[in-house]
Amino acid sequence: MRSRKTARAVQEADQRGEIDREAEDFIRLHHAENPAAGPVRPRLREVLAEIAQTGTYTHTPDELTFGARVAWRNSGRCIGRLYWRSLRVRDRRHVDTADGVADECVEHLRAATNGGRIRPTITVLAPERPGEPAPRIWNGQLIRYAGYVLPEGGVAGDPAHTELTEWARRLGWRGEGTRFDVLPLIIEVKGGLTLHEVPPEVILEVPLRHPRHAWFADLGLKWHAVPAISNMSLEIGGVTYPCAPFNGWYMGSEIGARNLADLDRYNQLPVVAERMGLDTSHDRTLWRDQALVELNIAVLHSFAEDGVTMTDHHTEAGRFMAHLEREERNGRICPADWSWIVPPLSGATTPVFHRYYDDVRLTPAFNHRPTA
Ligand code: ARG
Repeated sequence: MRSRKTARAVQEADQRGEIDREAEDFIRLHHAENPAAGPVRPRLREVLAEIAQTGTYTHTPDELTFGARVAWRNSGRCIGRLYWRSLRVRDRRHVDTADGVADECVEHLRAATNGGRIRPTITVLAPERPGEPAPRIWNGQLIRYAGYVLPEGGVAGDPAHTELTEWARRLGWRGEGTRFDVLPLIIEVKGGLTLHEVPPEVILEVPLRHPRHAWFADLGLKWHAVPAISNMSLEIGGVTYPCAPFNGWYMGSEIGARNLADLDRYNQLPVVAERMGLDTSHDRTLWRDQALVELNIAVLHSFAEDGVTMTDHHTEAGRFMAHLEREERNGRICPADWSWIVPPLSGATTPVFHRYYDDVRLTPAFNHRPTA
């Protein structure tokens, strides 16, 4: 039987072999797609030498930018990948303190929101290094609404975030108790947790109203403009960046057909149906479907009227078909997961419904981190 130490040495050697291989694949990909990067051999030698010495290596700014963009290109669940090359990459790899991370999240929101003309952006903070754990953001997104479990049962706010809300509370946060209280960021650095409020001036929100139903505004619904995912790690060529918040812009149905409509989210279809005067006595009246369409019209209309970037599922499905075609022309596999690509309403009215996809895992990639 191997001693513990030998077993660990073997494991470390395995990991090193792993990072060598992944680094090499990535560097070759970068050079193959970017002739301007010059010959690949010298860069490969440099990277492998750095790994031999330190157990990891440092991406050049060009490699980081390319790696982050390709991680988006490889995201099989995302319908919005046509513009993957336009991702703006904020290289903040030197930032590894909780306050530093929080400040960068705020700057990210300011830059990405851009007064409503939303810019797909990623901020890359300190990577994982041997013996040096990287910071982490516990929030699933930079902007998330609290969910308060009520003593009489039920939830005020977003039921998807009751656990995060409870963590914030334990760390000393007290929300106002409205349905749309933005949670503070919970940042973990070297095992310690800290709370950081997101300043209201970087939180753009859109109050929802309907082009024909004046009563809709009275429902008091709204949503935030920027979906900025903050709990996935960016993996590039064997290097892991666990703290790399990124955003695109919303597709209306994410809000209108899921966040505000799901039974276990804001569950607004019965409320909308009632105001519309629909017959809710039987499923076959399709009151849910009618209410769903009006709710989605309200979301798209409100964002458009406020000049906040948003797309609808028909436009985005068309763009995705163009993306597939372009990827194929470039001789690449485009990984896609049908159950995520097809929009949550009117699926078969969009072209993405009527075919199958290659659902393979390619790297660079965004990975879900195990939740703490
Ligand atoms: N579906 C998530 C939400 O409703 C956002 C996921 C990312 N969406 C995007 N359009 N980039 O908050």
